[in-house]
Order: sequence, then C-alpha cells, then structure tokens
Amino acid sequence: MLKVLVCVSGGGTNLQAVMDAVDAGEIKNTEIIGVISNNKNAFALERARKKGIDALCISPKDFPDRETFNQALLETVKEKNPDLIVLAGFLVAIPPAMIEAFPNRIINIHPSLIPSFCGVGYYGLHVHEAVLARGVKVTGATVHFVDSGMDTGPILLQKAVEVKQDDTPKTLQQRVMEEAEWKILPKAIDLIAQGKVTITEGKVNIQ
Ligand code: GRF
Repeated sequence: MLKVLVCVSGGGTNLQAVMDAVDAGEIKNTEIIGVISNNKNAFALERARKKGIDALCISPKDFPDRETFNQALLETVKEKNPDLIVLAGFLVAIPPAMIEAFPNRIINIHPSLIPSFCGVGYYGLHVHEAVLARGVKVTGATVHFVDSGMDTGPILLQKAVEVKQDDTPKTLQQRVMEEAEWKILPKAIDLIAQGKVTITEGKVNIQ
C-alpha cells in the first residue's frame, strides 16, 4: 500500500481529484494518510476532513522564522512516514532538508508544459496570464519530481490543452485543471503505486 501525504495551500481541487480517484479505484494500492496546509483557511483542509483524512495546518505565521517553520514542517512530515509526498497547489518552497530526506519521493503538479512558464513567480493565475500574454496556442500541465530547483525535477507526465481565442486567465486555468491537472496527477500517483516508474540519469521511465 502506497502511503501518500498531500500538501496544499488553496482550494484543493487537485486533492479532490486524487481522493475521488482513490475512492473510484482509479488509483490502486494507495492510501492518503494525511493532508498538510500552510494556510489555515485553505478549503482543501475542509475537503480532507469531509473524507475523514487527517488534515492539519502548519503556518509560517506561527513560527519566529522560516528555519523553525521548515524544521516543524519536516518533523511533521517525517512523523507521518509517507512513501510519497504530493504537492497539490502547495505554495511553499520545499526545504532542502525535506528533499534530501525524501529523494525522488516528492511530486508536484504545475499548470504549464514545463520548461515553459515555470520557475520563480509562475504559480496559480500568473502562469495563465503569462501564457495569454505570450500568445502560445497550446499549454497544459506537468507532474514532475521535486528536486532542489524550482519546477526543475524529472518530468513524469504532461498533458496538452488548447488555448482558445477568447480565453481569460480564469477560463484557461479552469480548462487546464479540468482537462489536464485533475487527470495526470491521479494517473501519476497510480503509476508510482504500481511500481511502474523509475528515474535514470534525470529522466523518468514508465513501464
Ligand atoms: C492550480 O492552478 C494548480 O495548478 C496549482 O494551484 C492551483 C490551485 O490548485 N498548483 P488546487 O485547486 O488548490 O488544487
């Protein structure tokens, strides 16, 4: 059984897609053992509680500095002892010590086709604003393993989404979530749970 810990910051639609996929048997051999948010008002926490999943908030606001927050986050994660950590709209820089403690065991969903429109400042709606400003005709979403960089780890799954002439950042974000994020994040977890994913020289291989 793959024990999965999900980290969230906002509405939790990606978390919801994962929970629903586990319940529907689309993600096999997996248990979501907890949800952690840095934002006590994140609706994602409410979604987890409704499913009876342990949901807690570890907020930087409750710590004197970033280092003690990072230590508390890592201690809490280690206590849960997950096999896989899923960043689903988690807007916190992952501490290097956490990446060292869970090498190739942290994945992230990013709302663009990496390496386009990613890195510092590219999160949430900002991604889609940049996509529309550049005038690209195709965008999408990426699931990647988390390394010490920002959105730079090995790419596991991607899915393309058409940019429409009359798109606004909001309409584009919604389509990318519906047509890409909510499909490839559950798929990625299922592939890992079935032991079908390996990483060789920074490249992901899927059996
Ligand atoms: C989504 O755009 C997702 O791509 C990004 O965070 C936003 C909110 O996600 N990572 P969620 O609804 O909280 O899952």
